[in-house]
Amino acid sequence: MATDSTNQARKKQAQGADTFSSFGFIMAAIGSAVGLGNMWKFPYITGMYGGGAFLVLFIVCLLLIGLPILLAEMALGRAGRGDAVTSYHALAKKGQKIWGVFGLLSVIASFLILCYYSVVTGWTMHYAVASLTGNLFRGGQQYAEHFASFTAGTSPLLYQLLAVAGTGWVIARGVTSGIEKFNKIMIPSLGIILLLLMLRALWLPNAGAGASFFLQPDFSKLSVISALVALGQAFYSLSLGMGAMVTYGSYVDAKQSLGRAAIAVGAGNIVYALIAGLIIFPTTYAFGLQAAQGPGLVFIVLPSAFSGMPFGYLFGGLFFILLATAAFTSLVSLLEVPVAFTIKHWGWSRKTSVLVLCVTIYAISVPTSLSVGGALSNWMLAGKPLFDFLDFFASNLLLPIAGLAVTLFIGYAARKGAEEPRLGPGTFRLWMFLLRYIVPVFVTLIFLYSMGVFG
Ligand code: PHE
Repeated sequence: MATDSTNQARKKQAQGADTFSSFGFIMAAIGSAVGLGNMWKFPYITGMYGGGAFLVLFIVCLLLIGLPILLAEMALGRAGRGDAVTSYHALAKKGQKIWGVFGLLSVIASFLILCYYSVVTGWTMHYAVASLTGNLFRGGQQYAEHFASFTAGTSPLLYQLLAVAGTGWVIARGVTSGIEKFNKIMIPSLGIILLLLMLRALWLPNAGAGASFFLQPDFSKLSVISALVALGQAFYSLSLGMGAMVTYGSYVDAKQSLGRAAIAVGAGNIVYALIAGLIIFPTTYAFGLQAAQGPGLVFIVLPSAFSGMPFGYLFGGLFFILLATAAFTSLVSLLEVPVAFTIKHWGWSRKTSVLVLCVTIYAISVPTSLSVGGALSNWMLAGKPLFDFLDFFASNLLLPIAGLAVTLFIGYAARKGAEEPRLGPGTFRLWMFLLRYIVPVFVTLIFLYSMGVFG
């Protein structure tokens, strides 16, 4: 019997059925986690909220709050063997299928995030091209103007088309020959580019000042707010709440240790974010530039630094290729969530699903892009341009609710699933304790904070 089922599993794998290898799963999950959040958001909030002191806080949040949810999502997916909704249905107690609603929230969240994340991915592609061709550095140091006029115009529409189509192409090829293969190439390449750029950055004059702005602990900047920012960042950066880790988890074979996978993903996520900071701050400081916040940091300040560096067009090009790659592997994990859902629940084929979803996502991403300083910038939804509205609605509202649901479901409500990671007794008790009593409180705090309750 046991040999029978192993043989069957082997046969399925040989046919390229939808299962990750251990390494493939870890690469894909790191690919989802490491994204624009690590590459531009993490460095500037770290600089802003207390450097090394914030970093410690971030790591604590990641370990105590992020990892337990990550593990719960992976367990939900593997034990439930399906997309975000199916997994809830499979593990819910009799008469409690209503939990599937939270799976549906994740599917909606990932769909909405795709509509604006693909826009920003397009920007990084434009910047990579403009840097490599040298166009970015012609016409003086008008990078703020360049950014504003580029994002407000129509050329982003072409780049985001490439982003959506490229993501669709990977997903259409399936789990093993699409998602796994793509991430197995991209994540190690990303590591190499990161290291190269870090060496370059740390070699610049005055690099030490940048590194110490980034990492020197300043405990006076720690506050309740910085703790909430660290929490929110740990949550977003591990791609929690959007069903990506549940969906990927459903493709993991039964032998793999989920605990070890979760730790590898958490560690990979921290390391990639740290190196990104060690590129960005030494580079800006070496050129006497102010580290700005948000998109301004990578799209406005850094081009100016690259323009002053020998072979700057090449390093700039590499840097934006890095951002684009990190963004792509996250887009891939996002698209798989609604694709898996429509295959299972609406009976679509993978190809149909990819086609329909990509067309719809692109159709929404067009007005989204035009709402960033462009033709639709005055068109408001709940007082925000479409781009900001989508980010706010998905990241601040849907993700924390869906994350809280996974936590409570695995912590209290599921018929089974908690045993799925097969942790040792001590670790299991710790995990359950965190899931039941600690994580829900903190996720609720993230939610209230992002809703503006603490001002
Ligand atoms: N974790 C990604 C990042 O840090 C963001 C992301 C959110 C990716 C949602 C996938 C889904 O940028």
